Amino acid sequence: MRVLVTGGAGYIGSHTVLLLLESGHDVLVVDDLSNASAESLRRVAELAGREPGFIEGNIADPAVLERAFGEFSPEAVIHFAGWKAVGESTQLPLVYYRENVAATVALAQAMADHGCHLLVFSSSATVYGDGTPPFTEDAPTGATNPYGRTKWMIEQILADAAAADPQLAVGVLRYFNPIGAHPSGRIGEDPRGIPNNLVPFVAQVASGRLAQLAVFGDDYDTEDGTGVRDYVHVMDLAAGHLAALDYLVDHPGWNVWNLGTGHGASVLQVVHAYEQACGHPIAYAVKPRRPGDVAASFADPAKANRELGWQATRTLDEMCADTYRWQSANPNGYRTD
Ligand code: WQD
Repeated sequence: MRVLVTGGAGYIGSHTVLLLLESGHDVLVVDDLSNASAESLRRVAELAGREPGFIEGNIADPAVLERAFGEFSPEAVIHFAGWKAVGESTQLPLVYYRENVAATVALAQAMADHGCHLLVFSSSATVYGDGTPPFTEDAPTGATNPYGRTKWMIEQILADAAAADPQLAVGVLRYFNPIGAHPSGRIGEDPRGIPNNLVPFVAQVASGRLAQLAVFGDDYDTEDGTGVRDYVHVMDLAAGHLAALDYLVDHPGWNVWNLGTGHGASVLQVVHAYEQACGHPIAYAVKPRRPGDVAASFADPAKANRELGWQATRTLDEMCADTYRWQSANPNGYRTD
């Protein structure tokens, strides 16, 4: 299938593009490289033994969409492109609504104009807000920040679009906490600046790039008092996108699946797992809770298991070992300076 992948140079995008190429799909990546490096695509091509097409640009730009659809005639779209920092979204809500919501409307309109009917959308478990895990797909939603609200709004927009167009097949994937890297160590997560997320921060403490991890609170109602999340290997997540794509071919309408392991791990359990991977202690200090954090979030992945035949297979230890291999081989991420 010809698959257009927006944001395909990014962390989850690059791992998904690799699997698509290895599975025989033809891929065109559109990415403005605002939070990604073209080097990731060069390495994806090296690993896959074949290249994706690439257009540097923002899907909110009509000329970029016209070129992508005109030149490539995609049969499906996997839509990763968007801004994704919770804290930043509270400072720049209009940017998030423009870059996430408005851009997705433009993309969906271009798909309709060009007879492209399959769309996999990168959503997030953040839409569940402060609910009680394990989360099923029909759990109440209630995003607590502009970023989460953009994901929730886009889900609703795509549901309305699917209700109006009987040919449209939408697969919404609600990711829990993606971590890890391709086992080759050639591609991985390369956050700009100081990482917001736990595992890339831990990885940089382990490599000496950062001095100490701040554990945001140890007074939650959890096993050891620290926050619990459902960490899922990025390779498992990538496989979930291909499974969703295959499902959509003969299932028009609006579909939603949680992509998580179904198990929670605490901050301290992640730290200890990473210490096993890197072979030395990780310096940390307990600090006050981070505003907006929930105590626990983890998936009930039964629907994806049942309908997509998808299941997370990699363990937390494997996630940490793969992250450590990527971080060790690429201490500055894709920047070679
Ligand atoms: C995990 C746990 C923190 C950093 C966010 C987004 C979500 C998705 C993934 C985009 C929490 C603790 C963290 C640190 C810490 N992003 N922590 N010290 O907040 O669950 O999810 O990223 O799609 O949408 O909401 O992930 O990795 O930031 O935090 O103690 O320096 O680690 O309190 O318990 P989160 P996270």
